[in-house]
Amino acid sequence: MNGDARKTAEALTYLSGFGNEHSSEAVPGALPIGRNSPQRAPLGLYAEQLSGSAFTEPRAQNRRSWLYRIRPSAAHPAFARTDNGTLRTAPFTETAPDPNRLRWNPLPEPEPGTDFVRGLWTLGGNGDATQRTGMAVHLYHANSSMERVFSDADGELLIVPEHGGLLLRTEFGLLHAEPGHVALIPRGVRFRVELLDDAVRGYVCENYGAPFQLPELGPIGANGLAAARDFQAPVAAYEDVEGPVEVVNKFCGNLWTATYDHSPLDVVAWHGSHVPYVYDLRRFNVLGTISYDHPDPSIFTVLTSPTDTPGLAGVDFVVFAPRWLVGEDTFRPPYFHRNVMSEYMGLIEGAYDAKAEGFVPGGGSLHNMMSAHGPDRETFDRASAAELRPQKVDDGLAFMFETRWPVTLTAQAARAEHLQRAYDDVWRGLERHFGPLH
Ligand SMILES: [Fe+2]
Repeated sequence: MNGDARKTAEALTYLSGFGNEHSSEAVPGALPIGRNSPQRAPLGLYAEQLSGSAFTEPRAQNRRSWLYRIRPSAAHPAFARTDNGTLRTAPFTETAPDPNRLRWNPLPEPEPGTDFVRGLWTLGGNGDATQRTGMAVHLYHANSSMERVFSDADGELLIVPEHGGLLLRTEFGLLHAEPGHVALIPRGVRFRVELLDDAVRGYVCENYGAPFQLPELGPIGANGLAAARDFQAPVAAYEDVEGPVEVVNKFCGNLWTATYDHSPLDVVAWHGSHVPYVYDLRRFNVLGTISYDHPDPSIFTVLTSPTDTPGLAGVDFVVFAPRWLVGEDTFRPPYFHRNVMSEYMGLIEGAYDAKAEGFVPGGGSLHNMMSAHGPDRETFDRASAAELRPQKVDDGLAFMFETRWPVTLTAQAARAEHLQRAYDDVWRGLERHFGPLH
């Protein structure tokens, strides 16, 4: 369905780099030249700045955009509280942080008429949205396009589709995200999610902290991992709609709603650095060993949200993409480990090379701070005996939200029907092989 929407959303420009200026205009001449806020903006538009960082943050971290719109965002009635549904926000206090390894099956089918916002289901998270620290793990399932418009003052939204295509109508224009892509909506940017398939499903990392950026490359050099040129920003596109439009605003954990007398997706031109984007994970340039062992999974980092401590992310977004394994005398799947960081993993398609079964697309696992995990028994046995020829791992696309703080579950995640009750059993039967004559 909706072939026109798929085609429209392909009209994208390249982001040339994070922190740089990008611009687009839906009508020639709508973008002022040489001034951000001229006495009279072109074409009778209103000029408005949207700040994603403090005014005074260093250039490399500074995010702001100038929007030229039919009406200023300030022209709206009062917001009133509305039901949060299955959406929850940090601080997470409904359950005690759980040291157990946990794994979930996919979300059950949504009720008829569930749009993206109603379909958001929070698994857990950490930090405090009012302090702009930490993150939340959400899953979504929906079977209805949004008619309302949504924005999140609490953080940016990294959307990871697992089933079904999405058309994101944002203030900046259209973005098209299919499974295998990720889409990022910056803090405060308004958008509507329309479905390109009858039902959609996926994951969302809500990042309360510093905006995601590309990781530094250090000795890797100027190329490798995710390339800045592959992050695509929308072409400006606007709705000139007079009439009632519901706008939902997520603010400090609660949903608030107001009925505008016009569409707030009325930006005719824009320029700046606080910009939504999509990225095709298949473009990720996977690096790994060409001798023995394998690097830590940080080598697969697509985006990182830095904190005040150098090298210590609030949250990293990591992808396990198709790659060759060639390590000699090496146990090639992910090794057994305990990690001070906490790991939520999801699967977009196929299988994951550390688990024989039970970790399925749309499901997820949580290995909290210092919890011991790694290959299951079947994977350990197979990989320990495998003949070590060059091997292409190309049957899956998995990802990880890796965060510096433990993930505390929501009550609905801790009690969910789709929580696997016997996940620990995958590490049963790891027999002792030790013997002095072994
Ligand atoms: Fe891990």
